[in-house]
This record gives sequence, structure tokens and C-alpha cells, in this order.
Amino acid sequence: MRVLVIGSGGREHALAWSISRSPLLTKLYAAPGNPGIAQVATCLPIAVDDGDSLVRAARDYSIDLVVVGPEAPLAAGLVDRLAAQGIAAFGPTQAAAQLESSKAWAKQFMAKYAIPTANYRTFQDYQEAVSYVQNCSFPLVIKVSGLAAGKGAVIVPDLAQAEATLRSMLVEQGFGAAGQEVVIEDFLQGQEVTVLALVKGQEYLLLPAAQDHKQVFDGDQGPNTGGMGVYSPVPAFTPQLEQEVIRSILQPTLRGLEEEGIYYSGVLYLGLMLTELGPKVIEYNVRFGDPETQVILPRLGGDVLELLAACSFPATTGVRSLAEQQVLLKEEACASVIMAAPGYPGTYPKGLPISGLEQAEAAGCIVFHAGTKREGERLVSSGGRILAVTALGDDLKEALQRAYEGVARIHIPGAHYRHDIGHKALCCIK
Ligand code: AMP
Ligand code: GLY
Repeated sequence: MRVLVIGSGGREHALAWSISRSPLLTKLYAAPGNPGIAQVATCLPIAVDDGDSLVRAARDYSIDLVVVGPEAPLAAGLVDRLAAQGIAAFGPTQAAAQLESSKAWAKQFMAKYAIPTANYRTFQDYQEAVSYVQNCSFPLVIKVSGLAAGKGAVIVPDLAQAEATLRSMLVEQGFGAAGQEVVIEDFLQGQEVTVLALVKGQEYLLLPAAQDHKQVFDGDQGPNTGGMGVYSPVPAFTPQLEQEVIRSILQPTLRGLEEEGIYYSGVLYLGLMLTELGPKVIEYNVRFGDPETQVILPRLGGDVLELLAACSFPATTGVRSLAEQQVLLKEEACASVIMAAPGYPGTYPKGLPISGLEQAEAAGCIVFHAGTKREGERLVSSGGRILAVTALGDDLKEALQRAYEGVARIHIPGAHYRHDIGHKALCCIK
């Protein structure tokens, strides 16, 4: 099978790394890829938003399966365009991608199909939104409706900050078009967990749960980021909770999509809060999580490419259907620590020299590249999240120790990372 992975982050490196191990693979391409991905794939210099060139490349290189990593091309309809040319892709169509590309749409969908989530209202007008929050109790959560790379949700502790946040979104338009509409919702308390389901219509297979750490500083302090570290499995996510999520969230979501006349295929990301009243949806995403993918895929024992191909649209021939496959899990736990540029998630420098990757790998880590590029012979940073330093271990403690040993061996001037990845799980396992 000839495969093209779209994207250039740590998630796509993890996807390419897994796909490259498949006996079904004959040739792997990535667009645009990154220096880590280049170790296992041929990188094509095509940007993820250049739909014309991506479709042309898929045709010219006789690609059997396009695996779309990020949300933006899905929301822009890349899968619809590939399908129109008869090219199979892993990822939902533009209509199905609304689950992520419009939080207002997703909330309305959840209300219609009684899927547990925080109570909410949506607003486009600043004054109306302010009048509403004047009568709310705090904290509250204010989110831009459109795509914001994980940074569009703000937890506001009081009225003054609610007004300031609404002003920055609706008046100053700090998030551009994505922030023309906002969702204001109740604050949910509990542990967060990410559950990914491989989906083809009404068929699904769950992948192991992971827990991300969205806030930038230790102890869940500071602004939200794309994700600062992650681990899997998640002890707080018991088999009973998994059954409840399937029954009260996943199945109603798939049935609701069908009733809306929307066909879903690819991976469905359920961002959940485990509240006292049961699991509730914080958000849907329509693609793999980043950095969740970096710990979920290394835990899988089977052929990842065959699983992805079974979910493709249009269907890929010659692979077993999703119903005939299962998710084979290794016994090991996995942890990943993100090394980020100084200043991230605010403004940050690029071009920082990176060294010590071989030493981290010698310590048993898999170093997924998230924001890197080559400058001549040198490897330098090109993004806010630079590396996802990942390790498997017999248990979570060992996986974390190994990942942090890797981090200690890598040098990036001024880089920062969280020191408490996995702590919530460690204190309940002991
Ligand atoms: P979102 O952009 O919807 O994924 O939100 C980003 C992050 O903000 C989530 O991962 C949570 O940590 C936090 N968050 C979002 N909505 C809520 C909520 N209703 N209650 C508590 N925390 C939330
Ligand atoms: N890790 C959060 C996300 O992928 O949206």
C-alpha cells in the first residue's frame, strides 16, 4: 500500500513511525513532514493548506491511502476533494468535521441528541454576551467557536475577566473569524481523559485512553496550550467508565450523525471530563490528538495501517473490515513530555539549536519531532512545541522516568517543559 501522511507535527511523526512498521506498506510519503518523519518517509514540500497540490500529489504518486493528521485540511474539505478523484483517505468529510470546526454546531448537536456536556449559550454580539455573564456564577468557560489550535478556551474566574475575554474575542477579534461566535459554558470539575475511537459509519473500535496536560505550567497553572505531556493508560478511566462512555456518548454520537445524514469515518476524539455526575464531553475533535497519539500508537501491538485503512473513505480494498479487526495492546505504559520553546504558548523564538537526541534514544526514548527543521546539517526548532520525548515502560512510573531521563539529555536553549506529567495517575497507583 502506498501511503501519504499529511502534516508536520509530533502526531504525524507518530503516525508515520507506526505506519512504517506495517507489512502492508510499500512506500510512505509525507507532506510536508519534518526531519523526524524524514527518517521513515519521503517528504514532499507541500503545505497542509495547499489542497490542489495535495490532491495532485496523491494522484501523481499513486497513493492508495491519504492519512490526514491535522484538523484544518479536514475542515477545508480535503477528504471530499480526494474522494471526488476516487482517492481513499483516513479522516472525515467537511460536513462531519463540523464536530470540531464549529463548537457552536457541536454543542447544538449534543443538545439535540442528549449527549452529556456542559450547559451552554452561544453569542455573536458582545453586549448580549456581557449581559448574560452578568447573571452567571463563576468560574465560567468562554470558547471561540472556530478552530484555535487548542488555545481558544479560557476559564474565567470573575466578571471582569469574562468581560475582558469576550472583548478580546468578539470586539478586538484576537482569534479572527474563529472568534466571531463564542460558546459560554459551565465549568466542569474532574479529571480529563481523551478517548479515541476508530470509526466507520456505525462501526467503531476504541483505542486506549490517554490523559493530556493542557496547561503550560506544573500543577495545571497558566494558559492552555496544544498539550504539554501525556500518558496512557489512565487508571482513573475504569472499564466501567469506558462502557458508560460507549453507551452515553459514543453510540449516541454515531447515531446522531447518521440521523443528520452525515457519514463519519476516521478517528473521533472525545475530550471528556470525568465529573461526579458521570463523563461529559468537553469537546469533539475529528482527528488524532496531539500529543495523545504519541503515547497511544506506541502501545499498539497490531498493524496500525490496516486499522486506518479499514476506516478509509472511500473504502480501501484488500484489508479486513473494522469489525473483523481488534486493537491489540501491549502491556506497557507510555508517557510523553513536550519540550517547548521559551515563551510558548505566547510568542517564542524559532531556529533554536537542538542536540542530544541520540543520547535520549540511547536512554530508551522515542523522540517524536513536533516543531523542528533542518538548517544545513543542523537540527533547529521551528514551532512552539518542539519535541515529544516519549518512552514505554513496564508501568507508568518507569515510562515517566525514562521519558524525563531523555528530556535531561536533550539541549534546546531556554526550552521549558512540565515536571509533573502523570502525577495524577502516580498518586492513585502508588
Ligand atoms: P477545548 O478547546 O474545548 O478543548 O478546551 C480546552 C481545555 O479547556 C480543555 O481541555 C479543558 O482543560 C478546559 N475546558 C474546556 N471546557 C471546560 C469546561 N466546561 N469545564 C472545565 N474545563 C474546561
Ligand atoms: N491534545 C489536544 C488536542 O489534540 O486537541
